Order: sequence, then structure tokens, then C-alpha cells
Amino acid sequence: MSSRTPVIAGNWKMHKTISESEAYMRELVALIAAATEVEIVVCPPYTSLVQVKQIATGTPVRVAAQNMHFEPSGAFTGEISQPMLQEIGIDDVVLGHSERREYYAENDDDLAKKVVAALAAGIRPILCVGESEDEREGGKTGDKLSEQLRGGLAGVNADQLAGMVIAYEPIWAIGTGKTATPQTAQETIAFIRTALADMFGQDAADAVRILYGGSVKPDNIGELMAEADIDGALVGGACLAADSFAGIVNFRQKG
Ligand code: PGA
Repeated sequence: MSSRTPVIAGNWKMHKTISESEAYMRELVALIAAATEVEIVVCPPYTSLVQVKQIATGTPVRVAAQNMHFEPSGAFTGEISQPMLQEIGIDDVVLGHSERREYYAENDDDLAKKVVAALAAGIRPILCVGESEDEREGGKTGDKLSEQLRGGLAGVNADQLAGMVIAYEPIWAIGTGKTATPQTAQETIAFIRTALADMFGQDAADAVRILYGGSVKPDNIGELMAEADIDGALVGGACLAADSFAGIVNFRQKG
């Protein structure tokens, strides 16, 4: 693990009503009270953002949206914009999750605009990248990641990159129980950091936090966090119960 402050983010996806979200947050806040030197991020569905932010205020927990449109307003049925998130104090936004790319045809051009819009609003982007199983087996992982980074970060400068979070999520590891080995995750994240150094310079690449995502659980977070370039995790399934997510946040207490 490096000197970069780790980020542990829980992506709730399409789970939890408002009342379920409130109960979860009350439990989580108590369980992570002793956590220090780790940034904790929860990503509830839109309907719960207001209530979750209210409970998170005054605690170390940051609140993220799971997506955002790049325009501030307009005729975009079903979309949510940056001023809407800003007004309720949202800290971060997950952009380009592989489920958004796969099911809702999000592309790198749209993502580049979303990243710029989020940065302009002071909302920190958590930009997701990752290869499919076929791409990994076909030796195309590097090309795919480089393309997603160049595309999604097209409008960003080095200072902005340094403050962002990138999440490396191999599609074959998401929700499958098939975690990348710590070695594979480390090698791929080191590749991403080198690609970012080529694009933005070494200082920005050394500063940006790069997370691993894909079947992270309380019992594998320790070995992932032991790797030099892995700065945290974006957690799906294992974040849905507060005690399980807290077990990941509190990875240092595992001995
Ligand atoms: P998972 O999801 O932890 O359930 O594999 C990760 C993600 O999609 O962010």
C-alpha cells in the first residue's frame, strides 16, 4: 500500500428503498466510527440520496451518485444532472460503470463530457474502466484500458486527474465471485498508472487513487490492499450489508 489515502466505495446499484437506506446508514455510521485514514464512499440509488446525505453529514462518509448527465438541464427523460446533485451536497459520482456501458450504451465521448461537468461542479468523478473476459483472453486488456482512459479523460488536465478516482473493474470479476488475483489486479493497475503518467505526467499519476473492483469481500480486501498500486476498492454485492461493508472499510483491523 502506498502513501495515498485509500478509498473504499460501496456501489448499491439498484438496491434499497429510502427506509432500507436509512437503516443501513445508521448501522454503518456506528460500525465505521473508529475508521481513520480511509475515505468511505456510499453510492445509493437516486431516490435515497437526500436521506443518506443527511445521515452522512458530520460523519466521515462521502455520498456518491451512480451516474449523472453531462447537461445541466434539458429534455432528457430519466436523467439527473449536476446541479441537482450539487444542491443536495453530493460529494462524488460514479461514471462509466460497466453496467452503464453495457446496458445503457454509455460511451467514452459521453463520459468525457460527464467527467468535465462533474469536475466543474466540484463533484469528484470515480471513473470506471475494465476489460471483458474475451478481451483479457485475447491479449487486448492494455488496448481496451488505454482507449477508455484516453476517451473518458479527454477533457481533463493533470491537476484535475490528481484529484480524481479511477476504478479498475474487470467485467469478468463483477458479481461473479471470480476476484482477480492480487497479482493480476496489481499488474493491471500499475499498467493504468503508467498509462496515466504518459498522458498527464508522473506527479498526477502518483497522486490519483486507483481502486480495484470485482467481487471484493471482507476476506480478500487485505491481500488486495497489500499491493503497491491498489488504493482501495469499489464494492458491489459485499457492500449491501452494513457489517460486511464495514469489514472491508476496516481492513487494517484484520491483523
Ligand atoms: P461486485 O461488483 O463487488 O458485486 O463484483 C462490483 C461493482 O460492480 O462495482
